Amino acid sequence: MIELTKEYVEANPYIPENIKKTLYGEYPLGWQMNDAERSTLINLVSSLKPSCAIEVGTAFGGSLYAISQYSEKVYSLDFDSSQFDTNDKKFSNVEFITGDSNNTLPLLLERLQAEGISPEFILIDADHSYDGVKRDIENLLKIQPLKPLYVLMHDGFMPDCRKGIKDADWASNPFVHFVEVDFVPGTLTSRPDIYGFMIGGFALALLLPEKREGDLEIRTDYKLTFQTLYANSEHRPDGIHSNEFWEGKAWLEEQWKNWMLIAEDRGKQLEENATLINNLERDASFYQKRVQESQRQLQEQGAWAREMENTLTALKSSPLYRLQTGLGHFLKSSLKRLKR
Ligand SMILES: C[S@@+](CC[C@H](N)C(=O)[O-])C[C@H]1O[C@@H](n2cnc3c(N)ncnc32)[C@H](O)[C@@H]1O
Repeated sequence: MIELTKEYVEANPYIPENIKKTLYGEYPLGWQMNDAERSTLINLVSSLKPSCAIEVGTAFGGSLYAISQYSEKVYSLDFDSSQFDTNDKKFSNVEFITGDSNNTLPLLLERLQAEGISPEFILIDADHSYDGVKRDIENLLKIQPLKPLYVLMHDGFMPDCRKGIKDADWASNPFVHFVEVDFVPGTLTSRPDIYGFMIGGFALALLLPEKREGDLEIRTDYKLTFQTLYANSEHRPDGIHSNEFWEGKAWLEEQWKNWMLIAEDRGKQLEENATLINNLERDASFYQKRVQESQRQLQEQGAWAREMENTLTALKSSPLYRLQTGLGHFLKSSLKRLKR
């Protein structure tokens, strides 16, 4: 099986440039969406080219990077926008707004309305609880759009989030013309940490400047898919699953155990290496001290030798020394003469 790694995709001449860009190329930051969702989002914003876009839920800036590429101005809302370099010039058209979206979104929408600005694209991808997503949508529904407004909502296949999207009071806004909860269907994940949970999917709503006529239908085109997956998911309240579910889970648990053993092994190796490095560092510092001590002793001995040399020179030039030396020569030559 070929794995669509970044290296494989970038090096493959048969993969069209726009697919390369969509999957990996221009969007290097952590993006919490799958390839289908990325493609949909990029396709939508690149054709809309919004003059004003809003993202609720920035995280690491993955989807924001794509939105900011095609929008004139973006407002990105999160509790925290310190998880990446917001000063990077690729975000020069982005205003980061921190705080709970329950407070920040209504304030932003009021501000934009006062300035006569009507957003054309909104991504809701923050609090995925029933109350959280419903609240973000209902805060948004207070606006009257001056331009067509596309609202994408991520994770329509998360059961609580789905219910929040479906139960939001869409009908209260007469400018809502279309709501499709399963615009992009989600999935049942086999990711080890959330095995058997339902995630992903995009719901889409369209608001237009003119009022709708007739009733609003909240569409769920992939309801059967959702229900079938739900019946096999960890969300199922009675915990009864198909054989495939349990087999997959058992296989994954086995893999997980193996990964943990490998990780433990690596951990031990790392600890051993760290001890080795500590010992080497300790030895190095011991020998360094000894070298310093020897250098100090050598310096002391050098100073002492120079002192001796000076004393000797001074002694040699003293009258007493010269007298003694003269006497010595005289005695030596007298003795020689006597011997003869
Ligand atoms: C799933 S992540 C967003 C992923 C991002 N859109 C992407 O695909 O790259 C959800 C983010 O929403 C933020 N969030 C959750 N609840 C929030 C709230 N009530 N107000 C503001 N931000 C919130 C979280 O801090 C997190 O960073």
